[in-house]
Formats: sequence, C-alpha cells, structure tokens
Amino acid sequence: MRWYAVDKRRLPWRAENGEPADPYRVWLSEIMLQQTTVAAVKPYFDAFTRKWPDVDALAAAEEAEVMRAWAGLGYYARARNLIACAREIAAHGGAFPAEEAALRRLPGIGGYTAAAVAAIAFGQRAVVVDGNVERVVARLFAVAQPLPGAKPRLRELADSLTPDQGAGDFAQAMMDLGATICTPRSPACGRCPLADHCAAWAEERPELYPVKAKKAAKPRREWIAYWLERDGRVLLVRRPNRGLLGGMLALPTDPPADVVWQEAGAVEHVFTHFVLTMRVMCGAGDAQAGGEWWPVTDVEQAGLPTVFAKAARRALAWRAEPRRQAA
Ligand code: ADE
Repeated sequence: MRWYAVDKRRLPWRAENGEPADPYRVWLSEIMLQQTTVAAVKPYFDAFTRKWPDVDALAAAEEAEVMRAWAGLGYYARARNLIACAREIAAHGGAFPAEEAALRRLPGIGGYTAAAVAAIAFGQRAVVVDGNVERVVARLFAVAQPLPGAKPRLRELADSLTPDQGAGDFAQAMMDLGATICTPRSPACGRCPLADHCAAWAEERPELYPVKAKKAAKPRREWIAYWLERDGRVLLVRRPNRGLLGGMLALPTDPPADVVWQEAGAVEHVFTHFVLTMRVMCGAGDAQAGGEWWPVTDVEQAGLPTVFAKAARRALAWRAEPRRQAA
C-alpha cells in the first residue's frame, strides 16, 4: 500500500488526492479492461466519457452509436450489456448499488467486476482477482498447482491478504504491481516492494509462476465477407445480437446479391477460442436484402469490428490494384 501511494499509475478513472472515485467511471473502466490492456482502453475511455459523462447520458444514447464507439475493443457482448446496465441503473434513479451482491445482479457484471466496483468505488471489503492479482499471489506463495485448477486457492490467498479498510487501493496496488513490476516474462524483482516476502523470489525462478496447464492449439474456422459496391457505397449489415460480433455493423457473410464475385484475397484474425480466416469477395450491383449503404471513402468511420475492418482494407487494396483500374 505504501508502494502504491507513491508509484501508482495515474489513470483517468482513478480519483486523485483521496477524493471518492466516481462509480460510473470505475464501472465503465472495469468493463472495458476485461480481456484488454490499459493502453488499449485509454482512448476509448476518454471518448466514452466525453460523449457520455454520466450513466444517465449513456442510458439515453442510441444503441448503434454506442456500438460504433466500442468498435475495435472486442468482446462486443460487453457493449450490449453496458447499455442494458446503464439503462437499468438510470431507471432506478441513476445511482449504482454499493454492495457486491446487488452489483452482481446487473447486466454484464460478473464476480470480478462486482468486487472491483464495490471495493474501488464504494470502499467495501471485496476480494478482487484478475490475471495480474493471480500472478502476484502465485509468486508470493510459490503456488505449484497449475491454472486454471489453482484459481480457488489463489482467491483464498488473495482473500487472506485483503485488508478490511482500503480494499480498493489494495486491489489496484496488486494490479499495478502485476502490470509494472511482477510482469509475466521478466519481473523486475529488484524494484519489488514484496521481494523479501516472495517465495518464488526465494527460489530465484519467479517467471515459472503461475504454473499453467498446457493449452490445446486453437481450432481454425473459415468465413467469407462480401464487399458489394454500388454508386460509391458499400453494403453493410447489422449482425444478429446473438453469436460472434453480435449487434455490430459488418460486411455481409452470406452473398447479399446475385452478381459476379471476384476473390480479393483473405485476412486472418485471432479470437479467444479460434483462428478465423476470412476470404474477401468483391462484387458490384444491387442487393436484394436490405442493409446500410455506407460511403466507401468513409468506411473507416463505420465502426466495423477489427476483423471486418481488415477485410474492408483488403477489398480496398484489391480495388486499387493498377490492373483493375485499367479494366
Ligand atoms: N485492470 C483492471 N482494472 C484495473 C484497475 N482498476 N487498475 C489497474 N489495472 C486494472
């Protein structure tokens, strides 16, 4: 805690000078930070809080606008739950509940986020365990059991360290330690405030922890994206809410029209559970099924999820090839 007081990272959702943290900003940052790094989140957090400075503003936002602002952050179910959660809170007077159990009942708030918001925004004693905390604790106690089986044990150990007062600062201190000193591959033990207590340091092999079970190779899938152009516009469709990239604007993944399709190459994107190869087919003409005709020159602003943004760039590069302009 002494180390954190001096060396903590200045992050836009953290209050300074002992002011209470704003629950809206804490909640928004914790949702964004799931599966994502602080560096990737910062510009999104800034854009969201400028556009929607409080939970009532976000609740009143148009869903498509929020999805567009989220584009590129990934795990799009988080964005749909974010809107649902904001609306539920706004409908109940605009105040976040302070208790972990009540937070847990809101859309998109799981065990981790409920604990983080309760501790950081409301000063409750809650045990906050993310990947950083797991790594710090696994090293501190040299836990030999591999993840994910070791999760309950690591949580128990984190619980045993969590103070009654200042659980929010404690959690964030563990996270900052994990992110800046107790890093996965080459921890800076010489600067670590916990080195004297660290069992992995005593063994001189801190990077061996946490032990992880061997993972199977990711399966591969193949999709086709269709780039259909008409009068300088490209056809985009909104994906159904359920399933991969649900609710996002995207290129069609079924042929949208009966035209001549030409292959423009393929792009690859790594998801959590599989690797996707997306072939890109280009065509011109009118579509039978509806969608949004988006200006081709402005397609970067459409808010496409990353894999479709890659496919769009592939189509644009293919169009620009000299032999095609001559044709
Ligand atoms: N990662 C997730 N939440 C965080 C927080 N509040 N501070 C630092 N890193 C985090």
